[in-house]
Amino acid sequence: MKPIERIMRTAPVIPVLVIDNVAGAIPIARALVAGGLNVLEVTLRTDAALEAIEEMAQVDGAIVGAGTVTNETQLDAAMSAGAEFIVSPGLTNKLGRAAIAGGIPFLPGIATAGDIMRGLDLGLEHFKFFPAVASGGIASLKALAGPFGGCKFCPTGGITEDLMAGWLALPQVLCVGGSWVVPAGPIDSDLIAANARAVSQAN
Ligand code: 3PG
Repeated sequence: MKPIERIMRTAPVIPVLVIDNVAGAIPIARALVAGGLNVLEVTLRTDAALEAIEEMAQVDGAIVGAGTVTNETQLDAAMSAGAEFIVSPGLTNKLGRAAIAGGIPFLPGIATAGDIMRGLDLGLEHFKFFPAVASGGIASLKALAGPFGGCKFCPTGGITEDLMAGWLALPQVLCVGGSWVVPAGPIDSDLIAANARAVSQAN
């Protein structure tokens, strides 16, 4: 099994994290792991993100990756910070080749058959389906999965606790991603752990 598939099969939900303050990094990671969600995607959308990855990577049981990686500079920075996997919202040949050359598990975003074919050309078969709901939802992914039977997906974008079971019921869907597990605002570790616990046994 490819390392990216092992990561995708670790937990049914990958929390998509926007960390504004690095002081929150370890409490958030501990709360998620305590709730059974071990795979954490820290989006490179804030100044605190890289430092947050460094800190969270020290939390026992946490598998910390970088999300919103859109170019090679960010890829290098994420790898230097200790990211164990890379998620991108889309797929360029340049980024795909760099991630493969870097030997890091890579989950690029796709939304069309052409995107998937670009990934297959690079030797990739594990994708984030993004933005999942806005791109046509479950019906759209089912239709896309038809011609690409060997591919596996992590739908992300617009997914909530109420919607996740429908996605996870598709055999090609190994996990889903979403930001709902860690709401914006002051960190409430009990709430985060409870949100994680509510979904970590799905699948
Ligand atoms: C992402 O980057 O994967 C999305 O912003 C997460 O989407 P959501 O906020 O709708 O869960």
